Amino acid sequence: MNSSTNQKLEIQKVESSRIAEVDFNNLTFGSAFTDHMFECDYKDGEWQNPTIKPYGPLTISPAAKVFHYGQAVFEGMKAFKDDNGKVWLFRPEQNYLRINKSSVRLAIPEFPRDVFFEALTTLVKLDKEWVKPGQGNSLYIRPFVIATQVGVSASPSSEYKFMILMSPAQAYYTGDVKVVIADHYSRSANGGVGAAKAAGNYGAQFFPTNLAREKGFQQVIWTDASKHEYLEEAGTMNVFFRVNDTLLTAPISDRILDGVTRKSVIALAKNDNIAVEERPVSVAEIVEAAKNGSLKEIFGAGTAAVISPVSAFSYQETIYELEKQEDGFATRFKKELMDIQYNRSEDPFGWRY
Ligand code: COI
Repeated sequence: MNSSTNQKLEIQKVESSRIAEVDFNNLTFGSAFTDHMFECDYKDGEWQNPTIKPYGPLTISPAAKVFHYGQAVFEGMKAFKDDNGKVWLFRPEQNYLRINKSSVRLAIPEFPRDVFFEALTTLVKLDKEWVKPGQGNSLYIRPFVIATQVGVSASPSSEYKFMILMSPAQAYYTGDVKVVIADHYSRSANGGVGAAKAAGNYGAQFFPTNLAREKGFQQVIWTDASKHEYLEEAGTMNVFFRVNDTLLTAPISDRILDGVTRKSVIALAKNDNIAVEERPVSVAEIVEAAKNGSLKEIFGAGTAAVISPVSAFSYQETIYELEKQEDGFATRFKKELMDIQYNRSEDPFGWRY
């Protein structure tokens, strides 16, 4: 299944670019899209007709399975432009592997590696003017797969559409991020789809996140579904806690996304001889650390959000403020990560592509 289609990538270029219509200094995350997109259909047991075409609407039957059973997975990755105008992807292999892992969990056929990389690099080259240089600017790349077979019987689709869209981006969060620790709703469960980047994982968070927003918080830190005793993941990010000088984060499991930024932060920390513990982190120990002053930082790590320091958390109606750490771990890892992404430093891990 995961082999080449042996089909040539067809390229249909736009007649004129829409780039002049975009205000690159005032981008709302994920709302503007580049001139081209990639589309490839799965039919009769194989991926076929890989095509790059002008970005635009699709015509899909209202009975397509994606609309009824949410059989859909996606990825988030970024391209960066360095000061010499060269464009770099960050660890795209990780996203390739993960979209297929997510697909397997949702009973979607895997996508061939050579088609993925040819589509990705061709698309980025075609729309490279949309990648702006400078700290914080990037091109957010959104591969996704949806079930397109017509029919509302509750069974896996026999037809799919794999697409890649690209969107110029600046910061995902502006300002402080305040979070609520979940003590009722859950994001994922043992044996569920939490480790997959399934569309429904995100949609299911909107309602409890709205409740948090009404109280002035941007995100929820999810806890284990059984007893809400252990801290697992923030809405669109993995989450790290710095207690004294040790970095703590939940271990990867079938409830937690194996984040590319998460694993990059762990590698950077270990490289800097910082103690990292990937282990269950209890709510009780973090509340206690906040009370006794040993909790120095909480930050989220994700592709869209990069590294986002958390300025306060709420647990069972008590708010715990965190002191701003100008030279903390979050600042340090963000700089180290971005220096690699923007080709401003050595790349000891071989992450640039
Ligand atoms: C990403 O960081 O790529 C994400 O998954 C966030 C996205 C849901 C906006």
